Amino acid sequence: MSEGYLLEVDRLITSFETERGLLRAVDQVSFKVPYGKTVGIVGESGCGKSVTAMSIMRLLPQPAGKILGGEIHFKGEDLLHSSDKRMQQVRGGEIGVIFQEPMSALNPVHRIGRQVAEVFRIHKKMGKKEAWDAATEMLDMLRIPAPAKRMMDYPHHLSGGMRQRVVIALALACRPDLIIADEPTTALDVTVQAQILDLLGNLQSEMGMSLVLITHDLGVIAETCDEVVVMYAGRVVESAPVDELFENPLHAYTKALLRSIPTLDTVPKSVLPTIPGTVAGLGDHSHGCRFCQRMGRDGPVTRERPKFKEVEPGHWLEICKECSNL
Ligand SMILES: Nc1ncnc2c1ncn2[C@@H]1O[C@H](COP(=O)(O)OP(=O)(O)O)[C@@H](O)[C@H]1O
Ligand SMILES: [Mg+2]
Repeated sequence: MSEGYLLEVDRLITSFETERGLLRAVDQVSFKVPYGKTVGIVGESGCGKSVTAMSIMRLLPQPAGKILGGEIHFKGEDLLHSSDKRMQQVRGGEIGVIFQEPMSALNPVHRIGRQVAEVFRIHKKMGKKEAWDAATEMLDMLRIPAPAKRMMDYPHHLSGGMRQRVVIALALACRPDLIIADEPTTALDVTVQAQILDLLGNLQSEMGMSLVLITHDLGVIAETCDEVVVMYAGRVVESAPVDELFENPLHAYTKALLRSIPTLDTVPKSVLPTIPGTVAGLGDHSHGCRFCQRMGRDGPVTRERPKFKEVEPGHWLEICKECSNL
């Protein structure tokens, strides 16, 4: 594996066993995460972003979810062939995860302090007092006011934004090399969302971690990411450094997503363009270009799988004669 990348996902295929047979939610997805950088994964709901994240962590719903192909290398280690015991060390210790809904990551019947301290006890083998102090310090780093007091609270005592800070504290506690944040601020209001993203960005650069930030919001990507991976219907249609993607988008789907974000020029209360149609269900995916399928184009474009190629250094594109602008 090449040096310089913390995480390399190569032609990952993840399927679910369903009543309609084995269906692919992730269909040969490839991307790389450099050390210390933030990579955004963007795409509408149902494009396979969360399934990609769950595949990396090997936390797919069982027994339906299966990884059927590809490779995932983390610090050079092949995660798809690591033992379950090793994966337990990786999760929480070396890769921290933050999910959308903070309540699902917190246990409602235990105090905040106990839950954060537990991470230090398990992964760092700290004693009770030391773990408690480390947890208090962690809450302080997350700018949670009066951290010693908050340690005694139960999750329901806190606001949504404060709860998500606690979840981030849990994910960062062991100073992992990588954080995977799956829509970490979607459930929060816009002001709190901005504060949390700022905080996450600051802590990331302080700690030198890499971050994979999953979102359906290109506005968030523009503010926070170094590189962007655009997913559509289980595949990567385009990926590039963030400035390149915003200045020179080459895939029709990326352009459509870009048109749907408001800018300073947007007339207040005007209707933003939306992308017609919806992402096809897993069983209805075409073999060929899936955005052509969405746009109702038929023929060779929906029958032959487009090639995924590097068209400029670092700029990857699914080459479809209808959708890609070369
Ligand atoms: N447990 C499951 N069983 C069957 N299909 C699933 C399961 N989980 C997710 N999917 C399907 O996989 C596709 C990708 O889902 P997901 O990764 O959650 O999308 P995103 O995070 O981009 O919104 C969707 O079509 C979804 O319905
Ligand atoms: Mg999701």
